[in-house]
Amino acid sequence: MIGYPIWWGIAAWPVDTFVEANDFNGKTVIPFCTSSSSGLDESGELLAEKANSGNWLEGHRFSSNPSDSDINNWTDSLK
Ligand SMILES: Cc1cc2nc3c(=O)[nH]c(=O)nc-3n(C[C@H](O)[C@H](O)[C@H](O)COP(=O)(O)O)c2cc1C
Repeated sequence: MIGYPIWWGIAAWPVDTFVEANDFNGKTVIPFCTSSSSGLDESGELLAEKANSGNWLEGHRFSSNPSDSDINNWTDSLK
């Protein structure tokens, strides 16, 4: 999983450098974000393009400061 805050509607730019610098071949990647109000929108697809490797799945958006149960509900749903 790769988590990031949304900045100006997409993933915070420092995350671009991380995905560009790493090889995700053979890995499944699930993006997740926090934001004040924006959705995940195309932030995951844009990171997948920059990474240019890995099997990127549909991600999930949390509000800022999500509760433990919000997070657990989502991670449990992935099992
Ligand atoms: C530079 C900047 C741009 C932001 N742009 C958005 C935005 O476009 N949409 C939104 O819902 N939240 C936006 N936010 C709010 C952040 O997504 C929110 O603060 C973050 O998800 C909470 O995580 P943090 O505690 O790690 O900052 C922005 C925050 C910053 C600092």
